[in-house]
Amino acid sequence: MPAEKKEVISRWTGSAPYWEKHRDIIREMFAPVAEALIAEAQIKSGQTVLDIATGPGEPALTIAERVGLEGKVVGIDVIPEMAEAARREAHRRGFRNAAFEVASADRLPFQGSSFDAVVSRFGVMFFPSPVGSVREMLRVLKPGGRIALAVWHFAERNPFHYAVSKIFERYVDSPPPAPDSPDAFRFAKPGDLLGILSKAGAAAPSERLLQFSIRASIPVEEFWDLRSEMSDKFRTRLACLSNEQRAELGREVVQALRAFSVDDGLSFPAEVLIVSGRKQPS
Ligand SMILES: C[S@@+](CC[C@H](N)C(=O)[O-])C[C@H]1O[C@@H](n2cnc3c(N)ncnc32)[C@H](O)[C@@H]1O
Repeated sequence: MPAEKKEVISRWTGSAPYWEKHRDIIREMFAPVAEALIAEAQIKSGQTVLDIATGPGEPALTIAERVGLEGKVVGIDVIPEMAEAARREAHRRGFRNAAFEVASADRLPFQGSSFDAVVSRFGVMFFPSPVGSVREMLRVLKPGGRIALAVWHFAERNPFHYAVSKIFERYVDSPPPAPDSPDAFRFAKPGDLLGILSKAGAAAPSERLLQFSIRASIPVEEFWDLRSEMSDKFRTRLACLSNEQRAELGREVVQALRAFSVDDGLSFPAEVLIVSGRKQPS
């Protein structure tokens, strides 16, 4: 396995318990992105949909509600602990139309022309071969079926990220990632992921900027716990600090986050690119 993919697997294996622990708030925070993907992929009742890099089950479970019992959703993730967390949630909430499997985006274990739509929220930036993965999405889509992918716009446009990371930079050396390496902002530049869809052969590729609010109905201190646990980068950097430094950094972050306080928690202006295309009708 290439070193980069190994590294991604190790990072996300470490993150899986925290993504499951904070699943409800993650669902709340990124619900507008799930809705944008559903709209862009034109997902309707009765359809069969694939969610790639589903993590602990989103947007797959939101889509399962939308397609209803006449439809079906399959979520895949390369990390077994993520797929297990998604299955546990589907079972807990009584879904009968959602299944989760362990698979990598570049080798989808499905026959050609199986799905009406393929979506992925915050996944494609971590794939070892984004072009190869989009080709796989097109292979498993039915003719005329749609792909919709969500990736972060620039970090500077997203205080959900930078309000915390700029404070980390003062405590720990934080070199930028190598160009085109797996990272949350790999496709932040408008046009980059769009080019990948074109290269992979998607018909009518298009891109739009989604501006929305990330809302988290929790106190600011709890939000800092969530942020420091969800992100592998933050966990790794915190582990390099002394107890005193960690406490000081935490105080600074909580203070900075208060700028985003609202009545029932926190609200951050946010920007995400929604990139879509379809498989040529036969
Ligand atoms: C930022 S999380 C997004 C999870 C979920 N889609 C959400 O929006 O809440 C990224 C996910 O991509 C998964 N992932 C990374 N590389 C992958 C690959 N090659 N194939 C499938 N999933 C992958 C990780 O395991 C992780 O669950």
